Amino acid sequence: MTRVLSGVQPTGNLHLGNYLGAIKNWVAMQEIHDCLYCIVDLHAITVPQNPGHLRNATRETAAAYIACGIDPKKSAIFHQSAVAEHSELAWILSTMTPLGWLNRMTQFKEKAGKHKDNSCLGLYSYPVLMAADILIYKATHVPVGEDQKQHLELARDIAGAFNRQYNQEYFPLPEPLILGDATRVMSLRDGTKKMSKSEESDNSRINLTDSPELIAKKIRKAKSDAEMGLSYDEKNRPEAANLINIYSAITGEKKKSITAKYAESGFAPFKRDLAEIVSEHLAPISSEINKLQADPAYLDSILKDGVEKARAIASANIKEIKDIIGFLTA
Ligand code: TYM
Repeated sequence: MTRVLSGVQPTGNLHLGNYLGAIKNWVAMQEIHDCLYCIVDLHAITVPQNPGHLRNATRETAAAYIACGIDPKKSAIFHQSAVAEHSELAWILSTMTPLGWLNRMTQFKEKAGKHKDNSCLGLYSYPVLMAADILIYKATHVPVGEDQKQHLELARDIAGAFNRQYNQEYFPLPEPLILGDATRVMSLRDGTKKMSKSEESDNSRINLTDSPELIAKKIRKAKSDAEMGLSYDEKNRPEAANLINIYSAITGEKKKSITAKYAESGFAPFKRDLAEIVSEHLAPISSEINKLQADPAYLDSILKDGVEKARAIASANIKEIKDIIGFLTA
């Protein structure tokens, strides 16, 4: 059996990177796999969150999943904190994760920066909780953006460590699925930095709920370079490469054909067309998000169903895991 699990942090402002790198790829998987799409609120609190904002952002993320094409009848849409087995397994796995493995995680180094001693234990052990999110369902495939690759490798290592310790192939080693032409969408202000929710300038990203006018403005103002004509060169022209990747990921058109079209004309017409393509693609998603958000009771009922589906699998697995470890089952 194949099972897919993935998740997004409910920190508001879902952007084009979350969509093209992750959620867009989740949709087709519903046809072939058993899919669980989690809203990882326990991960969100590794940086302080306002309770009201967290509640809204959790519902907003559920709305975004549905608006992007996740069908609650086919997939479980649920929030992580409601399925306690995630945290329970995270503790168990933390006892099998050498500190050396966590010390290699580049995302912790980036997030903690120079303030390592003041950052919290949860931020450091975050990848163990992420491994638990996946392994509690014995998920086989995990569709994510490029930035999560290292965490996925760690999840495989942790699964292997458990299997070795208890001398059985209990956990499948989860496969990362990093798909499409925009696995790492970059900031519109700096083509060497990832597009991110936490970046201060809103002009650096396109949010799924931005209006067509705002999208056009952000793309018009996006950093470009002084070269005439469009060409794809990730190393020397990162901003152009990023915009071409976005164009290609949305239209499905090959990069070669895109650069051929704009080889003579330069950035202005390319950006104009790109703005139109992005706005047209996001308009129905954005209006569906707004519509769904106006009905929190409906969103809560979807989450409740999703939690039930997820809990049924997680509670059966945690029983087996506890038995393997030697915990008495009362
Ligand atoms: P998060 O919330 O930062 O991002 C959610 C998903 O969006 C992808 N993504 C991007 N893809 C391309 N370009 C970008 N600029 C970009 N920014 C974000 C991420 O790769 C991710 O797929 N730790 C995870 C959430 C998580 C998770 C899990 C994922 C927790 N448990 C278990 C999979 C399985 C995170 O912080 O994602």
